[in-house]
Amino acid sequence: MACDPGQRRALVTGATGYIGSHLVKFLVDSGWQTSIVIRPGSDLGCLDELQNRIEILVHDGTVAGMVKLVASSRPDTVFHLASLFLAQHRSEDIDTLVTSNVLFATQLVEAMATAGCGRLINVGTSWQHYANDGYNPVNLYAATKQAFDDILRYYVEATPIKAVTLTLFDSYGPNDPRRKLLSLLRDAAMHGTRLQMSPGDQLIDLVYIDDMIAAFLCAASLLPVPDRAHMRYRVSSGEPVNLRQLVATIERVTGKTLAIDWGGRPYRPREVMLPFCPHPPLPGWAPSISLDQGIARVMFGAS
Ligand SMILES: NC(=O)c1ccc[n+]([C@@H]2O[C@H](COP(=O)([O-])OP(=O)(O)OC[C@H]3O[C@@H](n4cnc5c(N)ncnc54)[C@H](OP(=O)(O)O)[C@@H]3O)[C@@H](O)[C@H]2O)c1
Repeated sequence: MACDPGQRRALVTGATGYIGSHLVKFLVDSGWQTSIVIRPGSDLGCLDELQNRIEILVHDGTVAGMVKLVASSRPDTVFHLASLFLAQHRSEDIDTLVTSNVLFATQLVEAMATAGCGRLINVGTSWQHYANDGYNPVNLYAATKQAFDDILRYYVEATPIKAVTLTLFDSYGPNDPRRKLLSLLRDAAMHGTRLQMSPGDQLIDLVYIDDMIAAFLCAASLLPVPDRAHMRYRVSSGEPVNLRQLVATIERVTGKTLAIDWGGRPYRPREVMLPFCPHPPLPGWAPSISLDQGIARVMFGAS
């Protein structure tokens, strides 16, 4: 990949994921020289034709390997999106969860510090703030996110690394391979599948994928900061809806009635009824796609 000295250089982890692949596309289309860090078995299918416009770096799982990758790509901004999400873990998930969400991330910031790369965009989850607490993890996934946040504290205190952590609630958009709620509801609307749902009073804060990507770019523009090494912001639609309202929106947009047995299954353990994040909203960013517009794009694929 030829390097224009005036070009900005990004290193993206989690680039094969839903948000990460959209971020990579946006960065490449905006002229960033973009490298991605993947695992040996990562499926690059979602990056399609982008694959020959980016540098693909395969991490061997070691610190030394990560140091080499970061030193060779010399990014000015690292977007760290890689993560394993598990709503509820099993004992056999522990190693993978800690490897993905703590070890890999720590290797990354160690490599950044070694290579003198000073800007990090990190991602947290509102699930670190169960019951409106400053810290109270909904599940072990959220606890591992917090564990890395604590580790990052050391790096921003002791090295030149500066970071913005974006705390996300939920994201959605077309062609989402994640088996998330909206995919189930979409299938229910398109194929008439009957769904067993909880009573449906929990609020959901959904940000459309294009707006989410804009938030990452906005965060990158905030670095470097002279006075604060680690800034945390929330990325919220500002208009959470409950599950029943979400279904009503889908029914209005599609003109179809969904077959849902409300209360057919219980709430999850530690279900988040009221999404919360103590951090301020991301300055200079606001969502531009309404829920109705976003749902129409998900249902009918229009852009
Ligand atoms: N609902 C939301 O959208 C939401 C809410 C809160 C926070 N977040 C955070 O936002 C970020 C992006 O979320 P997403 O939903 O787009 O993710 P996703 O689609 O689930 O993709 C996860 C990505 O992480 C990579 N990954 C997992 N374990 C890894 C490891 N050990 N080493 C290297 N790469 C690894 C995966 O790579 P492989 O292809 O190798 O599997 C994949 O690229 C994550 O940090 C997530 O925690 C998302």
